[in-house]
Amino acid sequence: MNKTILITGASTGIGAATARLLASGNTIVIHYHLSKEAAEGVASDVRSAGGVAHLVQADLSTEQGCRDTTDFVADTCGRLEVLVNNAGGLIRRCAADRLEWQLMLDIFSLNTFSTMMMSSLCIPLLEKGTDPCIVNLTSIAMRHGAPTATIYGASKGALDVFTRGLAKELAPRIRVNAVAPGVIETPFHDQVTTAERLEQFRSATPLARNGRAEDVAHGIAFLIENQFTTGETLDLNGGLFMR
Ligand SMILES: NC(=O)c1ccc[n+]([C@@H]2O[C@H](COP(=O)([O-])OP(=O)(O)OC[C@H]3O[C@@H](n4cnc5c(N)ncnc54)[C@H](OP(=O)(O)O)[C@@H]3O)[C@@H](O)[C@H]2O)c1
Repeated sequence: MNKTILITGASTGIGAATARLLASGNTIVIHYHLSKEAAEGVASDVRSAGGVAHLVQADLSTEQGCRDTTDFVADTCGRLEVLVNNAGGLIRRCAADRLEWQLMLDIFSLNTFSTMMMSSLCIPLLEKGTDPCIVNLTSIAMRHGAPTATIYGASKGALDVFTRGLAKELAPRIRVNAVAPGVIETPFHDQVTTAERLEQFRSATPLARNGRAEDVAHGIAFLIENQFTTGETLDLNGGLFMR
């Protein structure tokens, strides 16, 4: 393929699985925030699979972190074929009658503003790439309502709308799509979902299991490869939510 691919939050979970899946023959820029050792492990796997790996560290919930990451890609690679806006998280659950202003800012900064800013800053690099595209990570939380994660769900719902607007604005030069994962067993859930709740999700899912990071990575790979898809959100949830 020989694509230059920036994956934010590629140290663990879905981002790491996507980096490994896309490694062969490509240059992968592995962005991480705190998990340096894990990111180095992903870089080593990418190189073993025949890819080129670069590592970049930044807090993408800040404008400066977004600018530093984009500058790194410009200096190191000079162009981009794919931007995967994957970094994100729920941060912490909060009851609807106890919402906190700072928590709302933190959740939107991490999930929504980072994706919007990274997309904007990367447009000039994507315009230099061949068949360029952006893939955003939304969530089942924006589809079926997620008690105590209402702000997180809203932050992803905003990205769903952003994805369609950007897709129209950047067509036909740059395709923009999203994946909406269901319940995927990654470090995402370590601090915010009990084992009992994960079991409840599993038993409520028609395909009788929670997702794996690789399930989502394959969906992202499909959206990168398919040249006639833009403005789409691909639900990957084992049937837990059907449209
Ligand atoms: N797992 C699920 O059930 C699920 C469902 C729907 C949507 N999603 C979405 O899928 C995406 C990936 O999640 P995951 O399940 O793979 O979770 P994960 O394993 O916890 O990965 C989250 C990634 O985001 C990075 N990150 C966190 N805070 C950051 C910050 N301030 N600045 C920059 N990067 C930051 C982390 O970096 P470090 O570890 O290096 O700090 C990590 O690489 C997220 O957008 C999440 O909202 C997940």
